[in-house]
Amino acid sequence: MSTNDPRALRNAFGSFMTGITVVTAVSKTGEKVGFTANSFTSVSMDPPLLLVCPANKLSSFDVFEQCEHFAVSILAEDQQDVSNTFAGSKEDRFAQVDWFEDEFGTPLIRDAVTHFSCSAFEKISAGDHLMLVGKVESFNTTEKFGLGYAKGGYFSLGMEHKAEEMAHGKCARVGGLIESSDKLLVQKSAAGYQLPTVDVLADKGSRASLEQFMLNLGGGYEIGQAFSVYEKAQTGNFVAFYRVEHAEQTAPEGYEYVPLGDLPKLSFASADLTSMVSRFVSEKKNGVFRLYFGNEVEGDVR
Ligand SMILES: Cc1cc2nc3c(=O)[nH]c(=O)nc-3n(C[C@H](O)[C@H](O)[C@H](O)COP(=O)(O)O)c2cc1C
Repeated sequence: MSTNDPRALRNAFGSFMTGITVVTAVSKTGEKVGFTANSFTSVSMDPPLLLVCPANKLSSFDVFEQCEHFAVSILAEDQQDVSNTFAGSKEDRFAQVDWFEDEFGTPLIRDAVTHFSCSAFEKISAGDHLMLVGKVESFNTTEKFGLGYAKGGYFSLGMEHKAEEMAHGKCARVGGLIESSDKLLVQKSAAGYQLPTVDVLADKGSRASLEQFMLNLGGGYEIGQAFSVYEKAQTGNFVAFYRVEHAEQTAPEGYEYVPLGDLPKLSFASADLTSMVSRFVSEKKNGVFRLYFGNEVEGDVR
């Protein structure tokens, strides 16, 4: 691919998974500034150095270019709103979040995973960004999980772990959103269309039970990420759905492959299936899959 295609280059850079930070400073006239950044990198232990890269186009660029001190707050998994505020809000960003001052008067985001208070160590102009190297003067860190960012979407390891645990220990049933060449595998029943599901085997977790089920269907299936883990209200049991790629284009007996574009026309056997399949179709379009964790009616989508 050519580097003349900025979108392709942005996507390529964005394929590197990162955490999210808010970088803050105070102008010479006392104005607090800050922006969301995932360009954070640790650089050196001795002296303790870190790096962030403010873009030349930031409204606060001059403040960072001239600053003597700045701070970095690594956001926690539940601070997506803080990230959005410091990435886009045109209002006073500090009026919208909880913060406190470090020893240099630089604002730090309250409840972040980690705070670094820095003095400016080196500033290197690099293309349309500044490489702002900070010497860590003080820091604190907690056990919390950080907010993750990959391919233009947030993710949270804490939640993935929780869902994995539920999927492993508590699920009574497991199913697959099984794809082959932009088609999804469904099964017609008297109550409406279903997705392939199976009872979780007593001595196995949901993923292993699904693997066994896929083998029984004939093999050639590759199980990917969990897509949805939720509690069925009627039974109180959890069900887990994983994304699955099928190398074959022929549906196993009793099932059929339906083009993704035709799925909204199908009548599914229950509302949870309808909403899950509709989220699957829209996330497939933009290429970022999230994980739903909750019950049939409400939950978190990350
Ligand atoms: C996940 C994420 C990471 C970002 N990383 C950076 C970064 O490293 N450097 C940067 O200059 N802008 C980055 N941005 C964009 C800035 O946060 C955004 O342009 C800035 O808040 C705009 O501020 P302004 O309106 O004051 O110019 C990032 C945005 C997001 C959502």
